[in-house]
Amino acid sequence: MRLPHTLSLAAALIGTTTALDPRPVENLGRGVVAVRSSDTDVLVTWRLLGLDSPDIEFNIYRSAGEDGQAELLNDKPLTSSTGTNYLDSTADPSQENTYFVRPILDDEEQEASGSFTLPADNAVEPAIRIPIRDSGPFKFVWVGDLDGDGEYDFVIDRINTQQSLEAYASNGTFLWELQYGPNSENQNNIEPGSTAISVGNWDGVTVFDFDSDGYAEVAVRIANGVVFGDGEVFENDNDDEQWVAMLDGQTGSLKAKSPIPTDFIEDGPLAARFGVGYLDGERPHLVAFMKNRRDDKAFNRVVGAWTFDGKAITEEWISLGDALVGSDGHNTRILDVNGDGFDDVIEIGFALDGSDGSLLYTMPDIVVHGDRYYIGKMDPEREGLQGYGIQQDNEDLLMEYYYDARDGTLLWEHFGTEVGDVGRGLAGDIDPTHPGYEVWSFQGIYNAASNETTTDDPELAPWPQMSLFWDGDELIELYNDGKFEQWDWENPTTSTSLPRFFRISTYGAKNPNNYNPGFLGDILGDWREEVVVTNDDYTELVIFTTDIPSDIRLYTLAHNPAYRNSMTLKGYMQSHSLDYYLGNGMDTPPQPNIRYVER
Ligand SMILES: *[C@@H]1O[C@H](CO)[C@@H](O)[C@H](O)[C@H]1NC(C)=O
Ligand SMILES: *[C@@H]1O[C@H](CO)[C@@H](O)[C@H](O)[C@H]1NC(C)=O
Repeated sequence: MRLPHTLSLAAALIGTTTALDPRPVENLGRGVVAVRSSDTDVLVTWRLLGLDSPDIEFNIYRSAGEDGQAELLNDKPLTSSTGTNYLDSTADPSQENTYFVRPILDDEEQEASGSFTLPADNAVEPAIRIPIRDSGPFKFVWVGDLDGDGEYDFVIDRINTQQSLEAYASNGTFLWELQYGPNSENQNNIEPGSTAISVGNWDGVTVFDFDSDGYAEVAVRIANGVVFGDGEVFENDNDDEQWVAMLDGQTGSLKAKSPIPTDFIEDGPLAARFGVGYLDGERPHLVAFMKNRRDDKAFNRVVGAWTFDGKAITEEWISLGDALVGSDGHNTRILDVNGDGFDDVIEIGFALDGSDGSLLYTMPDIVVHGDRYYIGKMDPEREGLQGYGIQQDNEDLLMEYYYDARDGTLLWEHFGTEVGDVGRGLAGDIDPTHPGYEVWSFQGIYNAASNETTTDDPELAPWPQMSLFWDGDELIELYNDGKFEQWDWENPTTSTSLPRFFRISTYGAKNPNNYNPGFLGDILGDWREEVVVTNDDYTELVIFTTDIPSDIRLYTLAHNPAYRNSMTLKGYMQSHSLDYYLGNGMDTPPQPNIRYVER
């Protein structure tokens, strides 16, 4: 059913998107997690949910040993001024300790949350570990609630001669494996085989509860030779023909498939980036950005959107060839840029209207391909969302730019002196003396809204790899090549003014994906973000989760519509963005227009 015109008009008239029905989203649990922050202290954090009342309070309980009595830890209910975390200094770490919380509403304790058990004599480390099979290197980790218990489970790619996917429940239980077969042997990063995943900027997998039944599906791209989780083999006599397919998240069996357009099949199969957005404002759509290469080295491009009702996949729209105008990058973003309540599909050089795949806008001609761009709420004083991008080999010497993401209007541009590849750039609030986000690549740090440098020396900027919320204030921290870092805005004297919090190697962990983790995002505990990496031989998921208390209470980032879409996207992995301003001087974010799905 499509009623976009009347609805979007109503939304435009009142200047909000609340005219649309609430989006069905995950019915998440409290995500309780505990880590030892010192020899004597345990930090326990849990989720505030998107629809929790501002008046909600919590009690926290601990039981020691296997059948110890649950003991209330806090003297007074934990209110909005104490965040959703608790520093427990009275635990005996030589025993196993199990934590859970109970919300309090109208002075009444509610049902207990799920619990988290910190093993006896656990290491002092800001991480939890989930053993996985010993089956080769992986690159990406996707998250979703496969088993319907309200907590995030994991899907992992395995990059061997032939590729595979493995699914694990949040408690580490192995669920199933999919084998990608002989068509995954060609792992070329530009023209990969028809079932190859996770090469270059192509992922080809995502996880989401597409039919809103409380259990996430795994969306994959299939072709001849794929073996599903139940052992069923997919056969087809043309190795280049491909389908998008929905797998049952609990078993890995095929639930439905829909053909990928064959308009360009004479040039081979299509490589794909997958993601998810509520393109009609109501239902999660699988979005695929796909390409293959012609003999003349030019590329064919296809963007498609599909929905899944639990039984069948429906192709909602396909946009390809000359219908697509403007540069693509190495990541896709899916969020509502024009405020009509429908998510849009954005590449670095153009935006597609989510409702039908038509061109919403193209960026001005001066913007060409670049490796990074961000769209989010960077300037709290400006209407709508803002964007920042960097450029590769721009003949006009454009290096970086800031724009109005509603229509692509450039707000400022920075030029260089010679053609070059800027390569990396980042956006986030790293300096509270300037309102809103800073953006930076290798030309110094700029306050986005004012186009003013925050340091007087263009050499001074942290390495712009990835960002995350970690230490408990509204400013953003940095995740750079296995290092947790923070920009020292009070003392920006040298480029070493990065107080290094720690390296993941200190804890025997490494990135599975070059400089990047397998996943970064808010999947456990309070609103701070987790970083999912691995150990030396890829037999553990090592999930870094904060050990620092915070008095800031925010609803889980995963209940923010823009952020949740972003969690489904990979490509060249980039940090997420929100549709509200999370930074110094922020207001309490408005409640998201969501409803929890029923199981
Ligand atoms: C772990 O998760 C699996 C899959 O959801 C479930 O069947 C199993 O009961 C869980 N085990 C424990 C100990 O909770
Ligand atoms: C933004 O800053 C750059 C560098 O200081 C300057 O060259 C440019 O004119 C500014 N643009 C705008 C629109 O303020």
